[in-house]
Amino acid sequence: MKELSNSPASTRALKPETLGRADGIIAQYPQKRSATMPLLHLIQEDRGHITQEDMKWVAEKVEVTPMQVLEVVTFYPMFRQNPIGRRHVRVCRTLSCALRGSYSLMESLEKSLNCPRGETSPDGDFTLEFVECIADCGCGPVVHVDHAMHENVTPASADAFAAKLKATLQDPSYGQNPPVPGTPEWNG
Ligand code: FES
Repeated sequence: MKELSNSPASTRALKPETLGRADGIIAQYPQKRSATMPLLHLIQEDRGHITQEDMKWVAEKVEVTPMQVLEVVTFYPMFRQNPIGRRHVRVCRTLSCALRGSYSLMESLEKSLNCPRGETSPDGDFTLEFVECIADCGCGPVVHVDHAMHENVTPASADAFAAKLKATLQDPSYGQNPPVPGTPEWNG
């Protein structure tokens, strides 16, 4: 069993409204412990990752041990214990996308974004990960960035795609108009 990891010094407190929603969520379940995952999602939605203190708080709320909460956090890959970059970049590596170059694409993105796979870049701008099939197999390689999907991001277009991602860091309207399927913006 892994030990609970230390919270990073930069971790900010959860919003009061996040904390305020917890009891309502717990009340929806016949057993308090069934609210463990919803509470973890709630925390991650607020801050982007789950700290040791968060796990203790959830454990107290749903009346289990902190270790039981840690088991849930470490079992499911969508839960994270470390801060996420300003852009969360996920490259599909399952067969269809892999055959169309997702591994080469990943290598290029690692260099362009200065971010090793599975990690967050030192400047905190990007988190870069492989993921398994995200159900868009006919248009691979597929890259999911935050809440938007990008299709046909080939190794040849990796540098241009990375440049577009970097440009979003300066764009105050980022995320307000996600790309529309079938448009050039949607494709890599
Ligand atoms: S194999 Fe990549 S989306 Fe399915």
